[in-house]
Amino acid sequence: MKIGCPKEIKPQEFRVGMTPNAAAEAVVNGHEVVIETNAGIGSGFDDDAYRAVGAVILDTAEEVFATADMIVKVKEPQPGERKMLREGQLLFTYLHLAPDPEQTHDLLESGCTAIAYETVTDRNGGLPLLAPMSEVAGRLAPQVGAWTLQKANGGRGVLMGGVPGVGPAKVVVIGGGVVGTQAARVAAGMGADVTVLDRSLPRMSYLDDVFGGMFKTGFSSANYMAELVRQADMVVGAVLIPGAAAPKLVSRAMLSEMKPGAALVDVAIDQGGCFETSRATTHADPIYEVDGIMHYCVANMPGAVARTSTIALGNATMPFMLNLANKGWRKACEDDPHLLKGLNVHAGKLTYYEVGEALGIDVISPALALKS
Ligand SMILES: NC(=O)c1ccc[n+]([C@@H]2O[C@H](COP(=O)([O-])OP(=O)(O)OC[C@H]3O[C@@H](n4cnc5c(N)ncnc54)[C@H](O)[C@@H]3O)[C@@H](O)[C@H]2O)c1
Repeated sequence: MKIGCPKEIKPQEFRVGMTPNAAAEAVVNGHEVVIETNAGIGSGFDDDAYRAVGAVILDTAEEVFATADMIVKVKEPQPGERKMLREGQLLFTYLHLAPDPEQTHDLLESGCTAIAYETVTDRNGGLPLLAPMSEVAGRLAPQVGAWTLQKANGGRGVLMGGVPGVGPAKVVVIGGGVVGTQAARVAAGMGADVTVLDRSLPRMSYLDDVFGGMFKTGFSSANYMAELVRQADMVVGAVLIPGAAAPKLVSRAMLSEMKPGAALVDVAIDQGGCFETSRATTHADPIYEVDGIMHYCVANMPGAVARTSTIALGNATMPFMLNLANKGWRKACEDDPHLLKGLNVHAGKLTYYEVGEALGIDVISPALALKS
């Protein structure tokens, strides 16, 4: 198969769909890999790193799209990229079609087959191509929160780990899933006094079994959460109710009871945020203040550490990408029902029920798509 990887063109996107290691695996498996010049530069991979493993560098995205049987990317294709997709071509990337009728329309019109990272599943009911980015955002949250707590940034002027004779920062993590667990680990590693709140008892049992010595767990009742938030130097918002907007768990009224200069890091901002006063910010201007409380609400946190994020995403996508290339998408999806869950669009038809429902478009079953 000819596999193509264009440079990402969405603003502030520095990741790349294929690392040199992924390109090398594809070449070893007998495939041709074409990469747009400078596609990897934002993640620290220059063209020579791809040439060294046998990939061919092309000057333009047009050439990559025209050459490749499968396009591997990070973000959803932008309008100009969608025009370059063609019938029978395979697209493997994040799509997030449900809130995006224009993109959905363009993909249907192109006749391509599109497999979305975010809907590929695993045998535990998880989302293996979303989890790496949650891991990155979770581990980054205490790092940016600690920076927000510094006096020059409007924060309380509290050091995460304290020093001998001075107590550590108190950190509350609301939501103990992928983001929350990683945030709690890093905050505890920095020496902070950390409590993770969740409403799932099995999840809390797991956290207590594995991390009991590092941080505490608590049930996320409104009263208990309010008590901890009042005492906190930093609160990390990491809740997710699948398919729904994040619940507003910290109200504006609660801010006046918090310590002045405390930091709220709302990782769940991409689902609307779990603090009433959250609004999405960018890496260029990440923090703002409301009622004396500092808010960090960047919606694409992994972009701050593009190299780590690219490699983490590449590690997760590579086995699927190789299967698609080695077997062709039909056989790969027939053999792996979790990969088939990723199929969103095929030959002018939607194949993902929730997207069809959100956009009012008819859907055919993925099983039918496999036969057509
Ligand atoms: N800002 C970013 O750059 C970025 C990056 C990655 C993920 N995210 C977002 O972070 C959020 C969390 O993602 P995740 O992968 O950890 O999800 P997850 O499903 O692994 O974890 C969510 C947890 O929230 C818990 N929860 C639900 N309601 C709760 C409540 N009322 N109180 C306490 N806990 C509650 C669930 O039991 C679950 O354990 C999502 O909105 C995700 O989209 C944002």
